[in-house]
Amino acid sequence: MAQQDGDSDRINIAIDGPAGAGKSTVARMVAGQLGYVYIDTGAMYRAVTLSAQRLSITAEQDERLAEMLASLQIKLEPGVNGQSIFVNDEDVTTLIRSREVTRHVSYFAASGIVRQVLSTMQRDYAIRKGVVMDGRDIGTHVLPNAEVKVFLTASVEERALRRFKELSADNAISLEQLEAEIAERDRLDEQRDISPLIRASDAIELDSTGMTIHDVAQTIVKLSRTKLAEAK
Ligand code: CDP
Repeated sequence: MAQQDGDSDRINIAIDGPAGAGKSTVARMVAGQLGYVYIDTGAMYRAVTLSAQRLSITAEQDERLAEMLASLQIKLEPGVNGQSIFVNDEDVTTLIRSREVTRHVSYFAASGIVRQVLSTMQRDYAIRKGVVMDGRDIGTHVLPNAEVKVFLTASVEERALRRFKELSADNAISLEQLEAEIAERDRLDEQRDISPLIRASDAIELDSTGMTIHDVAQTIVKLSRTKLAEAK
């Protein structure tokens, strides 16, 4: 059956879940296999956080945030390791992964003005379908009509361990500290008033604790192919 708002031979895929569940790796693999575009919405919240920190703007300063957002051009492009992100033509891909940004991003992500601007940009990316978007509110808020919705979880211990292994040896953070920071970010993301992290009622929950990233990606590709066949 033809879709109203895009090509009938493409669908949108929403992957939500807490920090470190493997969303971005999985989303990138799924997009690669289907020939779709991967959109990392967390990177957009991180880019806003970095930009605000540089201007000493806090998450509560709505007016200053609005002014900054109006002059901020965020661009996502396919890069060597997944996706590169540019803010006003500066490549901030590495800078947005700093601990300083990671520790503050959930405060900026709770701001209504930030969410409004970024959600609009994210919906625009998905208008023509064929995107795999990962985040916290994609299935519930940004793309409520996404044909495939996955809520990807894993135990907090497993998520912290995965992140710990990704960190460079000179990173001065212990596994325990990392686990506490991830748990705190989950708490902030789950408890905020606007578009909190929550499983959409029609999302399929996948617990990746005992699964390989490859198996998780294959499960989502299979689900997507079934949806695509149904749409024809
Ligand atoms: O990669 P990781 O799981 O550490 O986080 P991320 O996807 O880069 O997202 C960073 C932060 O952005 C999250 O902790 C949320 O506070 C926020 N975020 C959000 O609120 N909504 C989204 N759609 C994506 C990210």
